[in-house]
Amino acid sequence: MSKVIWKPGTMLYPLPAVMVSCGALPEEYNIITISWTGTICTDPAMCYISVRPGRHSYNILKNNGEYVINLTTKSLVYAADWCGVKSGSKHRKFSEMGLTPLPASIVKAPIIMESPVNIECKVKDIIELGSHHMFISEVVAVHADEKYIDKKSGLFRLNDAIPICYSHGKYYETGKLIGKFGFSVEKKKK
Ligand SMILES: Cc1cc2nc3c(=O)[nH]c(=O)nc-3n(C[C@H](O)[C@H](O)[C@H](O)COP(=O)(O)O)c2cc1C
Repeated sequence: MSKVIWKPGTMLYPLPAVMVSCGALPEEYNIITISWTGTICTDPAMCYISVRPGRHSYNILKNNGEYVINLTTKSLVYAADWCGVKSGSKHRKFSEMGLTPLPASIVKAPIIMESPVNIECKVKDIIELGSHHMFISEVVAVHADEKYIDKKSGLFRLNDAIPICYSHGKYYETGKLIGKFGFSVEKKKK
């Protein structure tokens, strides 16, 4: 087996491509697509997003210290890409993409109604890493679309919404189940 050695780079893929909504007032509302994001603590629930200071959203995020992570799906992939290539300095992203801002429960930033999961975040710390500044944040509320909650079992079926992921510049839909947590050590049924 032979391997090629590359210089250090951002090679951790696939990743989510979430739509982060921000702004305290309707005239300030904006959406920025973010892949440098993830969960960093279970209790308290904490997430991060990393944002370039040049983005229109950067000062909105920094000044308000609040935002919402909206998960993306196959039906939102066009809007997610568009919000990731157009700037809020020139566009009203909610109206131009036909997305609906709804009030969040705790933060001032709006949730995106069309997204199946909206994660309200409050910024705890900003770490200036280099090209990107990392917003370390506490999750203060989560909204889940009832449409995906199984009426009998109460289980949340996010996969029915067809979440997307981002890998090496391309978007993929998810869908095929190939295992479940702990299946590798489960005893085989006789
Ligand atoms: C799939 C995808 C992922 C992105 N991830 C990030 C990211 O993690 N951090 C970032 O600063 N910009 C990221 N961008 C770029 C911003 O979304 C883009 O520059 C956007 O136009 C900024 O909007 P704004 O100027 O309204 O803030 C990403 C773009 C796409 C399409």
